[in-house]
Amino acid sequence: MATFIIKGGKRLEGEIAVSGNKNAALPILAATVLTDDECIIDNLPAIKDVDTMLALLRDLGKIVERVDAHKVSIRGAVTHATPNPDLVQKMRASILLLGPLLARTGQATLGLPGGCVIGRRAVGTHFDALAALGADIEGVEESYAATLRAPRPASIFLDEVSVTATENALLLAASIPGETTIDNAACEPHVADLAEALNKMGTTVNGGGSNLLTIVGKKKLGGFAHRVKPDHIEAGTLMIAGACTKSRLIIRDVRREHLQMMLIYFARMSMNLRFLDDTTIEVLPSELRAGSQKFQTRPWPGFPTDLMSPLIVLATQAHGTALCHDWMFESRMFFVDKLIAMGANITLCDPHRVLVSGPTQLRGQPLSSPDLRAGAALVIAALAASGTSHIDNAQLIDRGYADLIPRLKQVGADIERIE
Ligand code: EPU
Repeated sequence: MATFIIKGGKRLEGEIAVSGNKNAALPILAATVLTDDECIIDNLPAIKDVDTMLALLRDLGKIVERVDAHKVSIRGAVTHATPNPDLVQKMRASILLLGPLLARTGQATLGLPGGCVIGRRAVGTHFDALAALGADIEGVEESYAATLRAPRPASIFLDEVSVTATENALLLAASIPGETTIDNAACEPHVADLAEALNKMGTTVNGGGSNLLTIVGKKKLGGFAHRVKPDHIEAGTLMIAGACTKSRLIIRDVRREHLQMMLIYFARMSMNLRFLDDTTIEVLPSELRAGSQKFQTRPWPGFPTDLMSPLIVLATQAHGTALCHDWMFESRMFFVDKLIAMGANITLCDPHRVLVSGPTQLRGQPLSSPDLRAGAALVIAALAASGTSHIDNAQLIDRGYADLIPRLKQVGADIERIE
């Protein structure tokens, strides 16, 4: 177990660069199963989930070589189709291997994927989409056994706008000759980034970033070189960290087109932000105001659920009462008890909604990170608080935020890690 020790109340100052997008890196790494040719993937975030996916690929027989901390070369054939169950249970994104393994070997046995406990996370949408493409999937004891007897292109309408189900369907359809359509598809930037990588492999995906994808698959796909796009969730998290600590922080390597809804919400909170150029944004100190507004998560291009926990911390520093609503995950909001212990004025209305009244001076506390995004939110709260906070279970934060401690230290945070 790791603990972060944070002495709060310091203003941050300087520049910080955004890492590659975790949720783009994971499906793009899974796509390497679709070919034996060399795939070179750059701008990978140095996070635990990427390490887990690389370990899964190695275990499947792929030759994985680190070129540097952010770049890998992956080649060679998979030698079996049963991803290591111990690795599979480390993260939900292991399920992204199902589509590519079916495409390459015609079968796959996958243990139950793990991941953050933030609510019921069904797999039905994945299975329906893969079944439409010709797969049979059944639950066998603690795993799923899938076979692809009759691969066929299909016209798919997803019952949920699921990010990883869209990606799984894309990954399998990419290798099935003929035209597949995926309607009610997820539109997130990471889905579009995967579509771009698949196009480099020889398939033709149109509509990436929209809710209607068409894929013209190809039996044999080739290698590719791809640079993962920056992580808009990390960009938003850093902006919130800057605003909560009343800092002057320059955030580099952002994509303006990925920030649109966040910028609307941040402006509603009177955050002081300005673009220095197309990929650099500056956060300046400001008097935050939430009025009595509602902030809610929506499927992309709406406000992302993965930024809701940090947004709640932002609301604790703003004048007024914010209603924060996350309809997606049933357990996302439960971490607010930790903010309440720090002095925040929050009412949990039901599992999906909290009322946050501010501003409040947060006080450092012994804390524990319940999941990745709540962990990041607690780091921000501790940076803004008076006194010292100890955040236990901080290894969960390593799953999605690269080198957080050195990067925050570099901009003046008083933060240490102990194991
Ligand atoms: N949902 C619905 N109806 C919908 C769409 C979604 O009820 O139309 C519900 C789902 O049932 C589920 C939740 O919303 O409970 C999220 O659904 P989705 O299937 O999209 O989630 P996912 O594909 O398993 C990915 C990300 C998550 C992120 C969600 C939502 C990856 C590897 N994971 O998960 O990322 O929260 O999309 O945007 O891409 C994280 O990075 O911390 C993380 C959890």
